[in-house]
Amino acid sequence: MRNISRFAAWAALKTRRSELVRIDPEQFIRQNTSLAAPPHVPEIKLHLASEVHDLWQKTEEDLAEIGLPPPFWAFAWAGGQGLARYVLDNPHCVRGRRVVDFATGSGLVAIAAARAGAKSVTALDIDPFTGAAVRLNAAANGVAIDFHADDRIGQPLDADVLLAGDVFYDRDFCDRLMPWFAAVSASGVMVLVGDPGRSYFPRQGFQPLATYEVPVTRALEDSEVKKTTVWRFVAGS
Ligand SMILES: C[S@@+](CC[C@H](N)C(=O)[O-])C[C@H]1O[C@@H](n2cnc3c(N)ncnc32)[C@H](O)[C@@H]1O
Repeated sequence: MRNISRFAAWAALKTRRSELVRIDPEQFIRQNTSLAAPPHVPEIKLHLASEVHDLWQKTEEDLAEIGLPPPFWAFAWAGGQGLARYVLDNPHCVRGRRVVDFATGSGLVAIAAARAGAKSVTALDIDPFTGAAVRLNAAANGVAIDFHADDRIGQPLDADVLLAGDVFYDRDFCDRLMPWFAAVSASGVMVLVGDPGRSYFPRQGFQPLATYEVPVTRALEDSEVKKTTVWRFVAGS
C-alpha cells in the first residue's frame, strides 16, 4: 500500500457505513483538525488535518478498524481547490444562481460559491462526518450552506449550476456520475468539475475552462503540485 498515494488507498477503501460511528462528528473534527487556508484558495479557512494531527497518521487499515470512512472532509483536494479558485475568480458563473456543490467534502467549493454571490448554495455528500464539517467551515467563513446527506445521483436537480470537485477517483462512482451529469446538463443545469487528472476522468464531453498548478501534500498525493483543470460538461447540453 505504501507505494501508491494515500489518496488512492483511501479511494479504494470501502468502509461499511453501517458500522458507523459512535463518535460525535463535531467534537471529532475539532479535536483532529485546525483552521487553515488551502494553499490555492487562501481567502477561505477550513478545519483541515495536517501532519500534526493524529488523523493524518492513520493508515487505511486503522480507519477501517475504528469504522471511520476515509476523512475526505479533512482535506482540500486538488480538484476542489481548482474549482473553488475558478468560482472565486469568475463569480459570474454562480452569481445570483442556485448552486449545488456535489461531493462537497469540507464544503470548500460550496463556500467559494456563497462568497462569489450565489443566490443559494446546497452541499451534498454521503459521508456522515461531512454535515458537521460543512457546518463548522461555513460558520468559520460567515456563509450559509444548506447540507443534505442523501445520495442524489440520478435524481433531477432543482438548481442552475452543479459543481463537483475531485470526483473521478473511482470507476463505479464515475460510471454512476456520467449519465447523471448528462441528464442534469440536458435539463439546463450548468455542470462544472475540477479534476487533477484522476484515473477515471473521461475527458470526452468536457470543455476546459482554466488550468491551475495546485500545491498538495506528498503524504496524500503522488506529487507536490497537481495540474488541475476546471471543465464544463457540454455533452448533455
Ligand atoms: C475526493 S473528495 C472531494 C471533496 C471536495 N469536493 C474537494 O474537492 O475537496 C470526494 C467526496 O465525494 C463524496 N462522495 C462519494 N460518493 C458520493 C455520493 N454518492 N454522493 C455525494 N458525495 C459522495 C465523498 O464522501 C467525498 O467527500
